[in-house]
Amino acid sequence: MSDGATARGSATEREEARKIAEGLEHLSGFGNEHSSEAVPGALPVGRNSPQRAPLGLYAEQLSGSAFTEPRAVNRRSWLYRIRPSAAHPAFTRTGNGALRSAPFTQTVPDPNRLRWNPLPDPAEGTDFLAGLWTLGGNGDVTQRTGMAVHLYHANASMRRVFSDADGELLIVPERGGLLLRTEFGLLHLEPGHIALIPRGVRFRVELLDETARGYVCENYGAPFRLPDLGPIGANGLANARDFRAPVAAYEDVEGPVEVVNKYCGNLWTATYDHSPLDVVAWHGNHVPYAYDLRRFNVMGTISYDHPDPSIFTVLTSPSDTPGLAGVDFVVFAPRWLVGEDTFRPPYFHRNVMSEYMGLIEGAYDAKTAGEGGFVPGGGSLHTMMSAHGPDRETFDRASAAELKPQKIDDGLAFMFETRWPVSLTPQAARAEHLQQGYDDVWQGLERHFRPLH
Ligand SMILES: [Fe+2]
Repeated sequence: MSDGATARGSATEREEARKIAEGLEHLSGFGNEHSSEAVPGALPVGRNSPQRAPLGLYAEQLSGSAFTEPRAVNRRSWLYRIRPSAAHPAFTRTGNGALRSAPFTQTVPDPNRLRWNPLPDPAEGTDFLAGLWTLGGNGDVTQRTGMAVHLYHANASMRRVFSDADGELLIVPERGGLLLRTEFGLLHLEPGHIALIPRGVRFRVELLDETARGYVCENYGAPFRLPDLGPIGANGLANARDFRAPVAAYEDVEGPVEVVNKYCGNLWTATYDHSPLDVVAWHGNHVPYAYDLRRFNVMGTISYDHPDPSIFTVLTSPSDTPGLAGVDFVVFAPRWLVGEDTFRPPYFHRNVMSEYMGLIEGAYDAKTAGEGGFVPGGGSLHTMMSAHGPDRETFDRASAAELKPQKIDDGLAFMFETRWPVSLTPQAARAEHLQQGYDDVWQGLERHFRPLH
């Protein structure tokens, strides 16, 4: 395994990482009781905590839910590692960079529709953690409610290890492949894939290309799960079997390794004398996942009208009110539009939920593409009850279009849709890449009303 202390970032290192990433095995299925061992015999049989764990390993439980939560939502994994996680020195505060946490109280909540261009290129030597830039969010990290919208830009692989006690991380790459080295093993991500890193799981992000860019939803609330399918039936949307969990892989590294911990909104650092990615075997259901959004089984109308976008939900973080998500992750994937006598792009609406949208590639069917518009790496925020919908150009085109079956296959957009209004960080409210004049896209929607006499 790789040496945690060597520099990562050269073309050779990226090539090596890519070779590893493309040869990975994985375990299939979402929410399973998985088990995996990197060395045969490392996983105890018939008990979790034998008097002496196999191969001289330490047994340790990682709880992602309270011990007593119902079985259907109970999450924990047992890790068998070279050293227990407890073997570390004290953490001390370190700079938060551009990473911010809820509650977001530094700006006055803004009801306006807002749109940003992509983040500017990062400074030389920026790794994934240093490249996290918070746009805003809601809730409170100390109450385990709400979410944060982050973007990231990076041009160096992490040498340090990170874990987030404040929430689960949904990583949505838009540019550049990633190799995630986690306590549970390795995951390969390309633009169009997503990863879920559960609360508290340690990981490192290595770059497979010169630069990387994308989005992160930090979910402080209940872990993301697959949505109920109701009348859709037993299959469809994101199918459980398409989620990839890693197989066990460990680093046996002695020597200084920096470990950064996000806790109640701040970053804390400690220098370990070994790599904490030293889990030789594990079993459980609190595990990281990767998923290819192109596997999403898109449902839609085959008669008329545009269904509500909840039909495109990949993952949902439920709240204590049934059907009311803390945050939903929704994808607008390639699909056919066949509705008869139907305005086919997403309709005009106002929503009690707040919507942050990002674009992974191509264009989105409710917005005109191109510079100064809704572009890959950029994003838009339509917060609680803000009025939005197709822009003028899209409205005019779609109102006049001949309604032949039409394939939308030139874009991959997504939405973080949350029950609470999204408040901005000062850096997002004042960003140079915040577009001016977004409201103008809805100007010039002409009056067509002609009362009958
Ligand atoms: Fe919307």
